[in-house]
Amino acid sequence: MRAAFVASVAVLSLACFAAADTAFYQDAAFLELAKYSPFPDLPFAGNGTCGEKVENKDGSVTVRCLGPAHPLKPGQTVNTMMYLESPYPAEGQVVVLNLTSQLVDAEERPVPLSDVYVHHYVSSSAFLLGNGAELRGSFSRQPVKEPYALVIDAAKLKNDTIRYTNIQLINTIGVAEEDKRECLECWCVDKKDHGSFFCCKDCPAKDGPAVDYRLEYTVTYRPLAVEDSKTKKVQFIGFDITGGDIEYDILASQGPNTTLRKTYDTVIDDRCPQKKPFEVVRCIAHQHVGSECLYMYNLDKDELICKSCPVYGTEPGVPGNEEGYVVKMTDGDPSPPYLVEPGTRVRLVSDYSAAERRLGVMGLMSVWVGGLEKPCTGQFGASAMSAMSGSMSTPATSEHPLKNGIFVA
Ligand SMILES: *[C@@H]1O[C@H](CO)[C@@H](O)[C@H](O)[C@H]1NC(C)=O
Ligand SMILES: *[C@@H]1O[C@H](CO)[C@@H](O)[C@H](O)[C@H]1NC(C)=O
Ligand SMILES: *[C@@H]1O[C@H](CO)[C@@H](O)[C@H](O)[C@H]1NC(C)=O
Ligand SMILES: *[C@@H]1O[C@H](CO)[C@@H](O)[C@H](O)[C@H]1NC(C)=O
Repeated sequence: MRAAFVASVAVLSLACFAAADTAFYQDAAFLELAKYSPFPDLPFAGNGTCGEKVENKDGSVTVRCLGPAHPLKPGQTVNTMMYLESPYPAEGQVVVLNLTSQLVDAEERPVPLSDVYVHHYVSSSAFLLGNGAELRGSFSRQPVKEPYALVIDAAKLKNDTIRYTNIQLINTIGVAEEDKRECLECWCVDKKDHGSFFCCKDCPAKDGPAVDYRLEYTVTYRPLAVEDSKTKKVQFIGFDITGGDIEYDILASQGPNTTLRKTYDTVIDDRCPQKKPFEVVRCIAHQHVGSECLYMYNLDKDELICKSCPVYGTEPGVPGNEEGYVVKMTDGDPSPPYLVEPGTRVRLVSDYSAAERRLGVMGLMSVWVGGLEKPCTGQFGASAMSAMSGSMSTPATSEHPLKNGIFVA
Protein backbone atom coordinates (compact mmCIF):
# COMPACT_ATOMS: atom_id res chain seq x y z
CA MET A 1 0.00 0.00 0.00
CA ARG A 2 1.16 3.41 -0.61
CA ALA A 3 2.29 4.49 2.62
CA ALA A 4 4.03 7.00 0.85
CA PHE A 5 5.05 9.79 2.47
CA VAL A 6 6.59 11.98 0.49
CA ALA A 7 5.27 14.27 -1.54
CA SER A 8 2.74 14.18 -3.91
CA VAL A 9 2.36 16.76 -6.40
CA ALA A 10 1.45 18.43 -3.33
CA VAL A 11 4.55 18.38 -1.61
CA LEU A 12 5.94 20.10 -4.43
CA SER A 13 4.30 23.09 -3.15
CA LEU A 14 6.59 23.19 -0.27
CA ALA A 15 9.42 23.65 -2.62
CA CYS A 16 9.16 27.35 -2.62
CA PHE A 17 10.39 27.62 0.89
CA ALA A 18 12.87 24.84 0.74
CA ALA A 19 15.64 27.15 -0.12
CA ALA A 20 15.14 29.37 2.86
CA ASP A 21 14.71 26.63 5.35
CA THR A 22 17.28 24.31 3.86
CA ALA A 23 14.98 21.35 3.69
CA PHE A 24 12.14 19.47 5.21
CA TYR A 25 12.10 16.72 7.67
CA GLN A 26 9.53 14.01 7.94
CA ASP A 27 9.16 11.76 10.88
CA ALA A 28 10.04 8.81 8.75
CA ALA A 29 10.98 10.30 5.48
CA PHE A 30 11.59 13.53 3.80
CA LEU A 31 11.52 15.24 0.57
CA GLU A 32 13.96 16.47 -1.84
CA LEU A 33 11.72 19.39 -2.24
CA ALA A 34 13.91 21.82 -3.92
CA LYS A 35 13.71 20.05 -7.20
CA TYR A 36 9.94 20.17 -7.33
CA SER A 37 8.65 23.35 -8.75
CA PRO A 38 6.76 25.37 -9.55
CA PHE A 39 4.33 25.74 -6.70
CA PRO A 40 1.46 23.44 -7.57
CA ASP A 41 -2.10 24.47 -7.53
CA LEU A 42 -3.53 22.25 -4.85
CA PRO A 43 -6.85 22.76 -3.10
CA PHE A 44 -6.80 24.40 0.30
CA ALA A 45 -8.61 22.63 3.13
CA GLY A 46 -8.55 25.37 5.77
CA ASN A 47 -6.88 25.98 9.12
CA GLY A 48 -6.40 23.81 12.15
CA THR A 49 -6.71 24.60 15.83
CA CYS A 50 -4.97 23.57 19.04
CA GLY A 51 -6.60 22.93 22.39
CA GLU A 52 -5.60 24.04 25.86
CA LYS A 53 -2.03 23.65 27.06
CA VAL A 54 -2.15 21.05 29.82
CA GLU A 55 0.68 21.15 32.32
CA ASN A 56 1.97 17.76 33.46
CA LYS A 57 3.39 16.95 36.92
CA ASP A 58 6.94 16.85 35.58
CA GLY A 59 6.64 20.38 34.22
CA SER A 60 6.14 19.31 30.64
CA VAL A 61 3.17 20.56 28.63
CA THR A 62 0.81 18.53 26.44
CA VAL A 63 -1.28 20.06 23.67
CA ARG A 64 -3.71 18.32 21.35
CA CYS A 65 -4.45 19.85 17.97
CA LEU A 66 -6.71 19.17 15.01
CA GLY A 67 -6.27 20.00 11.38
CA PRO A 68 -9.16 21.24 9.22
CA ALA A 69 -11.87 18.88 7.98
CA HIS A 70 -11.35 16.85 4.82
CA PRO A 71 -14.81 15.74 3.69
CA LEU A 72 -14.51 12.44 1.83
CA LYS A 73 -17.08 10.14 0.33
CA PRO A 74 -16.41 6.42 -0.05
CA GLY A 75 -13.71 5.85 -2.67
CA GLN A 76 -12.57 9.48 -2.75
CA THR A 77 -8.99 10.61 -2.52
CA VAL A 78 -7.79 14.08 -1.61
CA ASN A 79 -4.45 15.82 -1.88
CA THR A 80 -4.66 19.17 -0.21
CA MET A 81 -2.93 21.93 1.71
CA MET A 82 -3.77 23.27 5.16
CA TYR A 83 -2.38 25.57 7.82
CA LEU A 84 -1.83 23.73 11.08
CA GLU A 85 -1.64 25.62 14.33
CA SER A 86 1.49 25.67 16.43
CA PRO A 87 1.07 23.85 19.75
CA TYR A 88 4.15 25.60 21.13
CA PRO A 89 4.61 28.85 23.05
CA ALA A 90 5.05 32.02 20.99
CA GLU A 91 8.75 32.30 21.75
CA GLY A 92 11.64 30.26 22.98
CA GLN A 93 13.09 26.86 22.32
CA VAL A 94 11.31 23.71 23.40
CA VAL A 95 12.33 20.07 23.60
CA VAL A 96 9.74 17.82 21.98
CA LEU A 97 9.29 14.74 24.16
CA ASN A 98 6.45 13.13 22.32
CA LEU A 99 4.67 13.86 19.07
CA THR A 100 1.85 11.54 18.09
CA SER A 101 -0.57 11.76 15.23
CA GLN A 102 -3.53 9.95 13.74
CA LEU A 103 -6.58 10.45 11.58
CA VAL A 104 -9.93 10.98 13.31
CA ASP A 105 -13.51 11.30 12.06
CA ALA A 106 -16.13 13.96 12.71
CA GLU A 107 -16.73 12.55 16.21
CA GLU A 108 -12.96 12.55 16.78
CA ARG A 109 -12.81 8.78 16.82
CA PRO A 110 -9.67 7.12 15.41
CA VAL A 111 -10.15 6.02 11.79
CA PRO A 112 -8.45 2.79 10.70
CA LEU A 113 -6.14 2.81 7.67
CA SER A 114 -8.39 0.18 6.14
CA ASP A 115 -11.12 2.84 5.96
CA VAL A 116 -9.09 5.94 5.14
CA TYR A 117 -5.48 5.44 4.24
CA VAL A 118 -3.13 8.25 5.26
CA HIS A 119 -0.89 8.33 2.27
CA HIS A 120 1.28 11.01 3.86
CA TYR A 121 1.26 14.39 5.46
CA VAL A 122 4.23 16.66 5.35
CA SER A 123 5.31 20.09 6.48
CA SER A 124 8.51 21.93 7.25
CA SER A 125 11.39 20.41 9.15
CA ALA A 126 11.11 23.34 11.53
CA PHE A 127 7.69 22.00 12.55
CA LEU A 128 8.78 18.33 12.75
CA LEU A 129 5.44 17.23 11.38
CA GLY A 130 5.17 14.55 8.76
CA ASN A 131 4.47 10.87 8.37
CA GLY A 132 2.97 8.14 6.27
CA ALA A 133 0.54 5.33 6.95
CA GLU A 134 2.70 4.29 9.91
CA LEU A 135 1.70 7.48 11.73
CA ARG A 136 0.09 5.68 14.67
CA GLY A 137 3.43 4.03 15.35
CA SER A 138 4.26 7.39 16.91
CA PHE A 139 2.21 6.39 19.97
CA SER A 140 4.83 3.89 21.06
CA ARG A 141 7.87 5.95 20.08
CA GLN A 142 10.32 6.67 22.87
CA PRO A 143 12.07 10.05 23.16
CA VAL A 144 15.72 10.03 22.05
CA LYS A 145 18.06 9.40 24.95
CA GLU A 146 19.60 12.40 26.69
CA PRO A 147 21.62 14.45 26.08
CA TYR A 148 20.09 14.30 22.58
CA ALA A 149 16.85 16.17 22.02
CA LEU A 150 14.42 17.25 19.33
CA VAL A 151 14.46 21.01 19.68
CA ILE A 152 11.99 23.43 18.12
CA ASP A 153 12.47 27.14 17.82
CA ALA A 154 8.90 28.17 18.55
CA ALA A 155 9.22 31.69 17.17
CA LYS A 156 9.85 30.27 13.70
CA LEU A 157 6.34 28.88 13.66
CA LYS A 158 4.83 32.35 13.57
CA ASN A 159 5.70 32.14 9.93
CA ASP A 160 2.64 30.60 8.27
CA THR A 161 4.69 28.95 5.60
CA ILE A 162 6.43 26.74 8.13
CA ARG A 163 3.03 25.41 9.22
CA TYR A 164 1.74 24.96 5.67
CA THR A 165 1.10 21.24 5.41
CA ASN A 166 0.21 18.86 2.63
CA ILE A 167 -1.93 15.80 3.30
CA GLN A 168 -3.08 13.00 1.02
CA LEU A 169 -5.86 10.63 2.04
CA ILE A 170 -7.41 7.67 0.23
CA ASN A 171 -10.84 6.52 1.32
CA THR A 172 -11.30 2.82 0.58
CA ILE A 173 -14.66 2.45 2.31
CA GLY A 174 -17.02 0.75 -0.11
CA VAL A 175 -14.20 -0.15 -2.51
CA ALA A 176 -14.21 -3.77 -3.71
CA GLU A 177 -11.42 -5.87 -2.23
CA GLU A 178 -9.95 -6.57 -5.67
CA ASP A 179 -9.72 -2.84 -6.46
CA LYS A 180 -7.97 -1.78 -3.27
CA ARG A 181 -4.45 -2.55 -4.40
CA GLU A 182 -4.82 -0.30 -7.42
CA CYS A 183 -6.23 2.52 -5.27
CA LEU A 184 -3.67 2.34 -2.53
CA GLU A 185 -0.66 1.86 -4.78
CA CYS A 186 -1.96 4.64 -7.03
CA TRP A 187 -1.44 2.87 -10.34
CA CYS A 188 -0.76 5.27 -13.14
CA VAL A 189 -3.11 5.24 -16.10
CA ASP A 190 -0.69 6.56 -18.65
CA LYS A 191 2.36 4.66 -17.46
CA LYS A 192 1.81 0.95 -17.20
CA ASP A 193 3.64 -0.93 -14.45
CA HIS A 194 4.13 2.18 -12.37
CA GLY A 195 2.53 3.43 -9.20
CA SER A 196 3.02 6.95 -7.92
CA PHE A 197 1.54 9.47 -5.55
CA PHE A 198 1.17 11.60 -8.64
CA CYS A 199 -1.36 9.07 -9.94
CA CYS A 200 -3.74 8.66 -6.98
CA LYS A 201 -7.33 8.90 -8.15
CA ASP A 202 -10.84 8.32 -6.84
CA CYS A 203 -11.75 4.64 -6.73
CA PRO A 204 -15.04 3.05 -7.73
CA ALA A 205 -17.03 2.54 -4.54
CA LYS A 206 -20.52 2.02 -3.23
CA ASP A 207 -22.10 5.39 -2.60
CA GLY A 208 -22.28 6.70 0.94
CA PRO A 209 -22.25 9.93 2.91
CA ALA A 210 -19.22 12.23 3.09
CA VAL A 211 -17.44 12.23 6.43
CA ASP A 212 -15.17 14.99 7.77
CA TYR A 213 -11.77 13.51 8.51
CA ARG A 214 -9.10 15.42 10.40
CA LEU A 215 -5.49 15.00 11.27
CA GLU A 216 -5.03 14.95 15.04
CA TYR A 217 -1.60 15.59 16.55
CA THR A 218 -0.61 15.73 20.18
CA VAL A 219 2.65 17.15 21.39
CA THR A 220 4.37 16.97 24.76
CA TYR A 221 7.26 19.38 25.25
CA ARG A 222 9.30 21.15 27.86
CA PRO A 223 11.03 24.52 27.63
CA LEU A 224 14.72 24.37 26.85
CA ALA A 225 16.46 26.44 29.50
CA VAL A 226 19.35 28.62 28.42
CA GLU A 227 21.67 26.93 30.89
CA ASP A 228 20.70 23.60 29.36
CA SER A 229 23.84 23.74 27.28
CA LYS A 230 24.61 20.04 27.43
CA THR A 231 21.61 19.28 25.28
CA LYS A 232 22.63 18.03 21.86
CA LYS A 233 20.18 19.04 19.19
CA VAL A 234 19.19 16.32 16.80
CA GLN A 235 19.32 17.07 13.09
CA PHE A 236 18.22 14.95 10.20
CA ILE A 237 19.87 13.56 7.13
CA GLY A 238 17.53 12.01 4.62
CA PHE A 239 18.26 9.22 2.19
CA ASP A 240 16.28 7.80 -0.67
CA ILE A 241 17.08 4.33 -1.91
CA THR A 242 16.25 5.39 -5.45
CA GLY A 243 18.61 8.34 -5.30
CA GLY A 244 15.82 10.85 -5.78
CA ASP A 245 13.00 9.12 -7.68
CA ILE A 246 11.27 8.37 -4.36
CA GLU A 247 9.31 5.42 -5.73
CA TYR A 248 10.11 2.17 -7.45
CA ASP A 249 8.14 -0.84 -8.59
CA ILE A 250 8.32 -4.55 -7.95
CA LEU A 251 7.11 -5.49 -11.38
CA ALA A 252 6.47 -9.19 -10.99
CA SER A 253 6.44 -11.88 -8.36
CA GLN A 254 9.73 -13.72 -8.10
CA GLY A 255 8.11 -16.62 -6.27
CA PRO A 256 7.34 -17.36 -2.64
CA ASN A 257 9.84 -16.34 0.01
CA THR A 258 11.91 -14.12 -2.23
CA THR A 259 13.27 -10.71 -1.35
CA LEU A 260 14.00 -7.85 -3.70
CA ARG A 261 17.02 -5.99 -2.44
CA LYS A 262 17.82 -2.49 -3.61
CA THR A 263 20.96 -0.66 -2.54
CA TYR A 264 22.21 2.87 -2.70
CA ASP A 265 25.72 4.03 -1.92
CA THR A 266 26.68 7.49 -0.82
CA VAL A 267 28.77 9.46 1.64
CA ILE A 268 26.84 10.13 4.80
CA ASP A 269 27.63 13.84 4.91
CA ASP A 270 27.87 14.29 1.17
CA ARG A 271 25.39 17.17 1.17
CA CYS A 272 26.76 18.86 4.28
CA PRO A 273 30.43 17.98 4.65
CA GLN A 274 31.49 17.89 8.29
CA LYS A 275 34.90 18.35 9.84
CA LYS A 276 34.31 16.50 13.09
CA PRO A 277 32.81 13.09 13.85
CA PHE A 278 29.12 13.06 14.68
CA GLU A 279 26.70 10.54 16.13
CA VAL A 280 23.83 8.61 14.63
CA VAL A 281 21.19 8.34 17.35
CA ARG A 282 18.22 6.96 15.43
CA CYS A 283 17.16 5.75 12.00
CA ILE A 284 13.54 5.66 10.91
CA ALA A 285 12.61 4.28 7.56
CA HIS A 286 9.56 4.83 5.48
CA GLN A 287 8.54 1.78 3.46
CA HIS A 288 5.29 0.40 2.14
CA VAL A 289 3.47 -2.87 2.54
CA GLY A 290 5.70 -5.75 1.49
CA SER A 291 8.78 -4.20 3.07
CA GLU A 292 11.28 -6.20 5.08
CA CYS A 293 13.42 -3.42 6.60
CA LEU A 294 15.81 -0.72 5.53
CA TYR A 295 19.43 -0.83 6.66
CA MET A 296 22.32 1.59 6.72
CA TYR A 297 25.81 0.12 6.65
CA ASN A 298 29.16 1.75 7.19
CA LEU A 299 31.11 0.59 4.13
CA ASP A 300 34.45 1.77 5.49
CA LYS A 301 34.16 -0.39 8.58
CA ASP A 302 31.85 -3.04 7.23
CA GLU A 303 29.38 -2.52 10.06
CA LEU A 304 25.65 -2.09 10.39
CA ILE A 305 24.94 1.43 11.64
CA CYS A 306 21.19 1.01 12.10
CA LYS A 307 18.06 -0.52 10.68
CA SER A 308 14.35 0.24 10.77
CA CYS A 309 11.73 -2.42 10.15
CA PRO A 310 8.02 -2.53 9.42
CA VAL A 311 5.49 -3.74 11.95
CA TYR A 312 2.43 -5.26 10.29
CA GLY A 313 -0.98 -4.97 11.84
CA THR A 314 -2.84 -8.15 12.77
CA GLU A 315 -6.43 -7.15 13.54
CA PRO A 316 -8.95 -6.25 10.85
CA GLY A 317 -10.13 -2.65 11.15
CA VAL A 318 -8.42 -1.89 14.48
CA PRO A 319 -6.85 1.59 14.42
CA GLY A 320 -3.12 1.24 15.04
CA ASN A 321 -3.10 -2.49 14.31
CA GLU A 322 -4.86 -2.77 10.94
CA GLU A 323 -4.34 -6.22 9.53
CA GLY A 324 -1.87 -6.30 6.66
CA TYR A 325 -0.93 -2.60 6.84
CA VAL A 326 2.42 -1.21 7.93
CA VAL A 327 1.36 0.31 11.24
CA LYS A 328 4.79 1.31 12.50
CA MET A 329 8.41 1.52 11.43
CA THR A 330 10.71 0.63 14.29
CA ASP A 331 13.21 3.12 15.68
CA GLY A 332 16.70 1.96 14.87
CA ASP A 333 18.58 3.31 17.86
CA PRO A 334 22.25 2.31 17.91
CA SER A 335 23.29 1.92 21.53
CA PRO A 336 25.48 3.67 22.30
CA PRO A 337 24.99 6.24 19.52
CA TYR A 338 27.08 5.31 16.47
CA LEU A 339 30.06 7.59 15.94
CA VAL A 340 30.63 8.44 12.28
CA GLU A 341 33.71 10.01 10.77
CA PRO A 342 33.16 12.79 8.24
CA GLY A 343 33.21 11.34 4.74
CA THR A 344 32.09 7.87 5.81
CA ARG A 345 30.83 5.81 2.90
CA VAL A 346 27.46 4.24 3.60
CA ARG A 347 25.21 1.76 1.85
CA LEU A 348 21.44 1.95 2.20
CA VAL A 349 19.75 -1.42 1.67
CA SER A 350 15.98 -1.66 1.13
CA ASP A 351 14.40 -5.11 1.25
CA TYR A 352 10.92 -5.97 0.02
CA SER A 353 9.20 -9.27 -0.33
CA ALA A 354 9.25 -10.19 -4.01
CA ALA A 355 6.47 -12.72 -3.56
CA GLU A 356 3.99 -10.26 -5.06
CA ARG A 357 3.96 -7.52 -7.63
CA ARG A 358 3.82 -4.15 -5.87
CA LEU A 359 3.89 -0.76 -7.50
CA GLY A 360 5.10 2.56 -6.14
CA VAL A 361 7.07 1.25 -3.17
CA MET A 362 9.51 3.45 -1.28
CA GLY A 363 12.70 3.22 0.71
CA LEU A 364 13.35 6.44 2.56
CA MET A 365 15.54 6.74 5.62
CA SER A 366 15.57 9.58 8.09
CA VAL A 367 18.83 9.47 10.00
CA TRP A 368 18.79 11.40 13.26
CA VAL A 369 22.22 12.72 14.15
CA GLY A 370 23.77 14.73 16.94
CA GLY A 371 26.86 16.86 16.82
CA LEU A 372 26.60 18.29 13.31
CA GLU A 373 28.62 21.47 12.86
CA LYS A 374 26.18 22.75 10.30
CA PRO A 375 22.65 21.71 9.52
CA CYS A 376 21.91 18.97 7.08
CA THR A 377 18.19 18.99 7.45
CA GLY A 378 15.97 16.60 5.64
CA GLN A 379 17.92 16.09 2.51
CA PHE A 380 17.41 13.17 0.31
CA GLY A 381 20.21 10.88 -0.54
CA ALA A 382 23.12 12.50 -2.13
CA SER A 383 24.38 11.67 -5.56
CA ALA A 384 25.28 8.06 -6.02
CA MET A 385 28.89 7.12 -5.71
CA SER A 386 30.18 5.01 -8.46
CA ALA A 387 33.03 2.59 -8.41
CA MET A 388 32.03 1.29 -5.05
CA SER A 389 30.21 -1.88 -5.79
CA GLY A 390 31.48 -5.39 -5.87
CA SER A 391 34.19 -5.22 -3.25
CA MET A 392 32.24 -5.56 -0.09
CA SER A 393 32.28 -8.54 2.15
CA THR A 394 29.14 -9.45 4.01
CA PRO A 395 28.83 -7.98 7.47
CA ALA A 396 27.79 -10.50 10.07
CA THR A 397 24.76 -8.37 10.72
CA SER A 398 23.32 -8.73 7.25
CA GLU A 399 20.73 -11.33 6.43
CA HIS A 400 21.79 -11.44 2.80
CA PRO A 401 24.85 -10.48 0.86
CA LEU A 402 25.06 -6.76 0.61
CA LYS A 403 24.16 -6.33 -2.97
CA ASN A 404 21.28 -5.63 -5.29
CA GLY A 405 19.12 -8.42 -6.53
CA ILE A 406 16.60 -11.08 -5.75
CA PHE A 407 17.19 -13.41 -2.85
CA VAL A 408 15.44 -16.58 -1.91
CA ALA A 409 15.01 -17.10 1.78
C1 LIG B 1 8.69 32.25 6.12
O1 LIG B 1 9.44 31.08 5.87
C2 LIG B 1 9.76 30.88 4.52
C3 LIG B 1 10.43 29.52 4.43
O2 LIG B 1 11.44 29.40 5.33
C4 LIG B 1 10.62 32.03 4.02
O3 LIG B 1 10.88 31.83 2.65
C5 LIG B 1 9.91 33.34 4.24
O4 LIG B 1 10.76 34.40 3.89
C6 LIG B 1 9.48 33.47 5.68
N1 LIG B 1 8.67 34.64 5.84
C7 LIG B 1 8.92 35.56 6.76
C8 LIG B 1 7.96 36.70 6.82
O5 LIG B 1 9.85 35.44 7.55
C1 LIG C 1 -5.87 30.64 8.01
O1 LIG C 1 -4.52 30.79 8.32
C2 LIG C 1 -3.84 31.66 7.43
C3 LIG C 1 -2.37 31.59 7.76
O2 LIG C 1 -2.15 31.77 9.13
C4 LIG C 1 -4.41 33.05 7.56
O3 LIG C 1 -3.77 33.92 6.66
C5 LIG C 1 -5.90 33.04 7.29
O4 LIG C 1 -6.46 34.27 7.54
C6 LIG C 1 -6.58 31.98 8.15
N1 LIG C 1 -7.95 31.84 7.73
C7 LIG C 1 -8.94 31.82 8.60
C8 LIG C 1 -10.31 31.65 8.01
O5 LIG C 1 -8.74 31.89 9.79
C1 LIG D 1 3.15 9.84 23.99
O1 LIG D 1 1.84 10.35 24.05
C2 LIG D 1 0.82 9.40 23.84
C3 LIG D 1 -0.51 10.09 23.90
O2 LIG D 1 -0.49 11.29 23.24
C4 LIG D 1 0.89 8.29 24.88
O3 LIG D 1 -0.04 7.30 24.57
C5 LIG D 1 2.29 7.70 24.89
O4 LIG D 1 2.41 6.82 25.96
C6 LIG D 1 3.34 8.77 25.04
N1 LIG D 1 4.65 8.14 24.90
C7 LIG D 1 5.64 8.42 25.70
C8 LIG D 1 6.93 7.74 25.43
O5 LIG D 1 5.54 9.22 26.61
C1 LIG E 1 8.12 -20.04 2.60
O1 LIG E 1 8.29 -19.73 3.96
C2 LIG E 1 7.29 -20.31 4.77
C3 LIG E 1 7.47 -19.72 6.16
O2 LIG E 1 8.80 -19.71 6.55
C4 LIG E 1 7.39 -21.82 4.72
O3 LIG E 1 6.39 -22.39 5.55
C5 LIG E 1 7.21 -22.27 3.29
O4 LIG E 1 7.44 -23.65 3.20
C6 LIG E 1 8.19 -21.54 2.38
N1 LIG E 1 7.88 -21.87 1.00
C7 LIG E 1 8.81 -22.16 0.10
C8 LIG E 1 8.31 -22.44 -1.29
O5 LIG E 1 9.99 -22.21 0.37
